[in-house]
Amino acid sequence: MVDDLYTAQQIDLRARARDLAETVMRPVAGKYDVEQTYPWEVQQAIKHAGLSGVWIPKAYGGLGGGVLDLCLVVEEFSRACGGMGVGYAVNALGSFPILVGGTDEQKERWLPPIAAGDKLIAFGLSEKDAGSDAGSMATRAAKDGDVYVLQGEKKWNTGGAVASFNTIFAVTQPGRGARGISAFVVEKDTPGYRVGKHEDKMGIRCVPVVEIHLEDCRVPVRNLLGGEEGHGFKHAMVTLDRARPGVAAQAIGLAQGALDLAIAYTHERKQFGQSISSFQGIQWMLADMATQVEAARALVHHAARAIDAGHKHITKLSAMCKVMATDVAMKVTTDAVQLFGGYGYCKDYPVEKYMRDAKITQIYEGTNQIQRLVIARSLLREAAGAGG
Ligand code: CAA
Repeated sequence: MVDDLYTAQQIDLRARARDLAETVMRPVAGKYDVEQTYPWEVQQAIKHAGLSGVWIPKAYGGLGGGVLDLCLVVEEFSRACGGMGVGYAVNALGSFPILVGGTDEQKERWLPPIAAGDKLIAFGLSEKDAGSDAGSMATRAAKDGDVYVLQGEKKWNTGGAVASFNTIFAVTQPGRGARGISAFVVEKDTPGYRVGKHEDKMGIRCVPVVEIHLEDCRVPVRNLLGGEEGHGFKHAMVTLDRARPGVAAQAIGLAQGALDLAIAYTHERKQFGQSISSFQGIQWMLADMATQVEAARALVHHAARAIDAGHKHITKLSAMCKVMATDVAMKVTTDAVQLFGGYGYCKDYPVEKYMRDAKITQIYEGTNQIQRLVIARSLLREAAGAGG
């Protein structure tokens, strides 16, 4: 990274995140991967380092950073552990709908404890039969006096088992399609809110991905985001536009972390009487991996800057950076395993975890097939004279 392209605050933030990643996260990444339990000690360390609310405005107790600041921190965390990177980033995903669509009173109620690291938040959009087609969700919210009664089930809820708040999307006006969807912040102690199945995952194993059951879950009307029905799908889409660079940054961190390991290993490993890094075939692989990481990082930071600058049409850029960075992460982490040879395939070395952690980045927050659809739709709209 060329430091001149970043503000002093961003360089400081990155250094603090790197320090925490190296001293607190890396030493325990393997342990939590095996145990598949949530690293509360890491969450506490993030809180004490003052990094919990990087993306939250200062008015609500955060650091007032933008999407680029968030990406810098997520990359550093993910370079040490992809699971810890997303365990952190999912709080941005869960709280963006409040920032995007919440009333001042709602922001004051929910954002300060998240910014302080006292409370965690998740994002409940997907369902068993509504993944890519998020608009076809079946969860319902029916108004009954001063509460909404929520019925349904959310799936792939990242961090849901440890979150105090969950931003839940539900249909309030059936028959109106995407315009009939509303967003609610549901607090975990609400009767009828229950954490269900914990997924047994290939990667990002330290962060719980769970089902959330909503059984006659009575949520106060004042928890309806923005105070008006029907804006939930838009809030979800605008949120994903802002959050996808965070997944891309997680992918860059994983790719960079695997590349770091591969460079060190190929230098150390001797075959045919010399270090394998002296072979041109290996050097070319390392060169391609580093070039791909640098190119992907540049696109992620370009997209993040466009969002922070308030650029109107960021949907396409956001999807592009997610596709590119996550495909690069899969390629680079796979190549890193290859460079370790047989050792790379075994759990004695940490590199295989990077490959497992990388896979999900091509899937969640919209599969890369959906990102390509979003990009193509934008291109065609632009060609027809509308904004992308
Ligand atoms: N910004 C603002 N508004 C948008 C928008 C955007 N980026 N994209 C769509 N909209 C609006 C449209 O303008 C339209 O509004 P009107 O009704 O006023 O015209 C409305 O939303 C519906 O849009 P579409 O007709 O385009 O919607 P669609 O049903 O065709 O779906 C989609 C579009 C892009 C495929 C969308 O469903 C999508 O992004 N799917 C993927 C969902 C996803 O990313 N899920 C992951 C969830 S998070 C997760 O993985 C778990 C976790 O915990 C990490």
